[in-house]
Amino acid sequence: MTKHMPPVAQDDTFRSDILNGLKKPQKTISSKWLYDDVGSHLFEAITELDAYYPTRTELSILEKQVKQYARLPGARGAMVELGSGSSRKTNLLLDAFSDLSVYMPIDISANHLKDAAERVRRAYPSLAVIPVAADFTQPLGKLPLLPELPVLVFFPGSTIGNFERHEAANLLKNIRSAMPQATMIVGVDRPKQKEVLVEAYDDPAGVTAAFNQNLLQRINRQLGANIDLARFTHQAVWNTEDSRIEMHLESSIDQTVVVDGVEFPFREGETIHTENSHKYSEEAFTEIANHGGWRVLDQDSDVNGWFSVYTLQAI
Ligand code: AVJ
Repeated sequence: MTKHMPPVAQDDTFRSDILNGLKKPQKTISSKWLYDDVGSHLFEAITELDAYYPTRTELSILEKQVKQYARLPGARGAMVELGSGSSRKTNLLLDAFSDLSVYMPIDISANHLKDAAERVRRAYPSLAVIPVAADFTQPLGKLPLLPELPVLVFFPGSTIGNFERHEAANLLKNIRSAMPQATMIVGVDRPKQKEVLVEAYDDPAGVTAAFNQNLLQRINRQLGANIDLARFTHQAVWNTEDSRIEMHLESSIDQTVVVDGVEFPFREGETIHTENSHKYSEEAFTEIANHGGWRVLDQDSDVNGWFSVYTLQAI
């Protein structure tokens, strides 16, 4: 499928990640495994919810700033999007970047990526669309880029918030290594009232709960397990000390689940930690960016100060 992430390697990584994660004292599974095809669609549904403020807030900032972004050198070269997420954000930039020649979405979900690439090809026939199925949390290596083009990295959605400070800095270092002269537009969610945060990650319609529980379904599907979804409930918890929302799946009873022939006992109330969504202040994120080898050129926010969009330059 691609030289970056053959499907077989990803299946093996999934299996070992799940088994290792369930062996830990605090059972933990990386949030990147939430995004299979079903998970990617559920996440798109989340972005449409009233309770989930980040998408519309970021979009409003991008709309306000897009003319500025169109002046960046990469807007006349190649735009590399990390996590081919919302077509509305992508289209907003592509509409404004009339001299762009290459669009390269990078996503862990191969099918989701194919759909996104097709959509862009149809709407922007003059663009060279080069999808790359890869796990961008791993070093990206050489990208099939036209080397003479200036690069603009678009990293929206506060995906960077999935990472702890040192991991986020490392990720930014990896991006800089793959694209040494690039400029980057990155969306980062900010700390705010706990009630707003918890509502966004535990929405009344239960879409986020379904998104979280799909991880168990994915384990059942891909690893031939038989986990009873009714015995795990979705939890969204604000961790003040670490400035992050945590998603957990909480066992409602004492039980043992069997995955790939291995038994994993759960006590009632014990959880699998499935996601961190860090909310970084301007100060915290600037420090991360600098550690990762990027200089902050600009920071834009909404009236409430709920979300930031940074323009970064590789140092
Ligand atoms: C795509 C990681 C940015 O943390 O807000 C949404 C994922 N999880 N609802 C986020 C998510 C639950 C989202 N990111």
